[in-house]
Amino acid sequence: MHQSVLLQEVVDGLDVKSHDVVVDGTLGSAGHASELAKKLSNEGFLIGIDQDIDALKRGKENLESCEAKVELIKGNFRDVDTLLKEIGIDEVNKILLDLGMSSNQIEESGRGFSFKKEEPLLMTLRDDVDEETLTARRIVNEWREDQIETVLRGYGEEKHSRKIAKAIVERREVSPIETTTELVKVIEDSVPKFYKWKRIHPATKTFQALRIAVNDEIDALSEGLERAYRLLKPNGRIAVISFHSTEDRIVKRFFREVKERDGGVILTKKPIVPSEDEIEKNPRARSAKLRIFEKHD
Ligand SMILES: C[S@@+](CC[C@H](N)C(=O)[O-])C[C@H]1O[C@@H](n2cnc3c(N)ncnc32)[C@H](O)[C@@H]1O
Repeated sequence: MHQSVLLQEVVDGLDVKSHDVVVDGTLGSAGHASELAKKLSNEGFLIGIDQDIDALKRGKENLESCEAKVELIKGNFRDVDTLLKEIGIDEVNKILLDLGMSSNQIEESGRGFSFKKEEPLLMTLRDDVDEETLTARRIVNEWREDQIETVLRGYGEEKHSRKIAKAIVERREVSPIETTTELVKVIEDSVPKFYKWKRIHPATKTFQALRIAVNDEIDALSEGLERAYRLLKPNGRIAVISFHSTEDRIVKRFFREVKERDGGVILTKKPIVPSEDEIEKNPRARSAKLRIFEKHD
């Protein structure tokens, strides 16, 4: 089961009032959303967005006892303004983005997000996958070596990106890389031996990078931030939890630019990070960073 990261910090930071319209753009199992919803009265409104229908089902269950009006939408938060317009909303008070995938998706989707399982190399949650769909399988078998290297370095900050990209291209000349296990073996065989004894598995960064590329997560974040910000009422707040430095840099820059452009307050001069205790209970939290911005009044 997915454990929500920086839960209390998000609740404190967003400071939801009873009549607020709150958007969770990455609903997942609604761990954050259900806590935020506790602050809402029956005059409040909680809107949950997720691209994954199974996540929405889990989220719905968790929101059953909620007093406020709830609306759940399947879609990408990069289109948040259009999605909300369709339900007649053009202004909101609070927005949360808790980026990436949930533990449920990584462990149970059967789509190749986990290097610990033997699964096809999809790494997309789309339900209409065909030959044209971008998948991790297509990246590792069709993209040029330098393109693969750029993905691994840029989105995974993988120190051994060059070695791994080279090994992938050599291996696919023998036969296509079809499964997670095949890709893990290529990675393990290409990195220095000591890398295997590090705290994280040697395939962690490559898998993260491929997932980000397949789902166009960086552009989705940049677009989603701008559109979400525009939806905020004066004094509205947006909170973003990111899990790697490329995402965090985008959020940090965005808040700084908006402050210069329109005013507003960066409520987190430094990002809020999980306590040692949280990381011990939930190792997935180790790289989390929370930043919060309040729109000008
Ligand atoms: C880390 S989980 C959220 C967990 C949630 N905060 C909780 O506490 O249960 C991220 C969720 O966001 C969804 N997601 C990621 N990128 C998305 C996007 N661009 N648009 C919509 N949903 C997205 C994923 O499908 C996943 O369910």
